[in-house]
Amino acid sequence: MISLKDKIVFISGATSGIGKASAFAFAAEGARLIICARRKNKLDVVADDIKKRFGVRVYAIELDVRNKTDVNSAISNLPDEWKNIDILVNNAGLGKGLNKFYEDNPENWEEMIDTNIKGLLYVTYAVLPLMLERKNGHIINIGSLAGREAYPKGAVYCSTKHAVDAITKSLRMDLIDMNIKVSTIDPGLVETNFSVIRFEGDVEKAKNVYKGMEPLTADDIAETVIFCATRPKNVNIAEILILAGTQASSTIVHRES
Ligand SMILES: NC(=O)c1ccc[n+]([C@@H]2O[C@H](COP(=O)([O-])OP(=O)(O)OC[C@H]3O[C@@H](n4cnc5c(N)ncnc54)[C@H](OP(=O)(O)O)[C@@H]3O)[C@@H](O)[C@H]2O)c1
Repeated sequence: MISLKDKIVFISGATSGIGKASAFAFAAEGARLIICARRKNKLDVVADDIKKRFGVRVYAIELDVRNKTDVNSAISNLPDEWKNIDILVNNAGLGKGLNKFYEDNPENWEEMIDTNIKGLLYVTYAVLPLMLERKNGHIINIGSLAGREAYPKGAVYCSTKHAVDAITKSLRMDLIDMNIKVSTIDPGLVETNFSVIRFEGDVEKAKNVYKGMEPLTADDIAETVIFCATRPKNVNIAEILILAGTQASSTIVHRES
């Protein structure tokens, strides 16, 4: 097993859900963290909690991954002691709206494409030179079951996660001789703020997504991220599909009434 002690881990979207749980999980292993998200106040709370609980160093950056210029300057302005990023967790992402394609708002598409695809590409492109220089690194993308199958009313969200799947596979090929692993973790239903965002703040609608079933938790996914990140040098977990206990596919979920 690879020790995560003093490894530098960059996590995008660490103010909530899977990204936040992953930040805590890496900190528990003694890693140093660079965390980013748009909501600086929430990010600072996460950073302070982690420092207090685990005594590790945390560097928090207010960052919208959709902004290429900001992404580039955030990474290039990292202090030297934070530049040797060992692990990149591309987690920032969202689903916006759940509507039939012809009834959807194209603004939702822009936001999902700009965040889930372009944001992931910008961050990866900015971080990679730091890994290539040292011929060392691991990129862990948070994909989705939606990247493996399409479901009704999900044309654009599913497309963005299919793109993450393609990017993961292609990157792995491009980096095969560079000692940089590339993995994807593809969760099914995880109860986070995801559905609240998807339904634009409608908490009742969001709760209904998990009605009568026990969804995955952000901690379940964080544990999986740690599993990927700690495999020995000769092992690369290419992809993990992780579903809730009573979920067979995006649309087949057993619910107790
Ligand atoms: N929950 C699920 O059922 C599920 C299933 C499969 C895959 N996923 C994927 O898991 C990832 C994390 O989602 P989650 O479930 O943990 O949702 P969440 O609780 O809503 O967390 C999303 C995180 O992404 C950040 N984020 C969103 N847009 C951003 C931007 N433009 N720039 C920087 N950070 C941004 C948010 O921070 P700020 O708002 O502070 O920027 C937040 O920290 C996403 O990629 C999602 O597609 C989720």
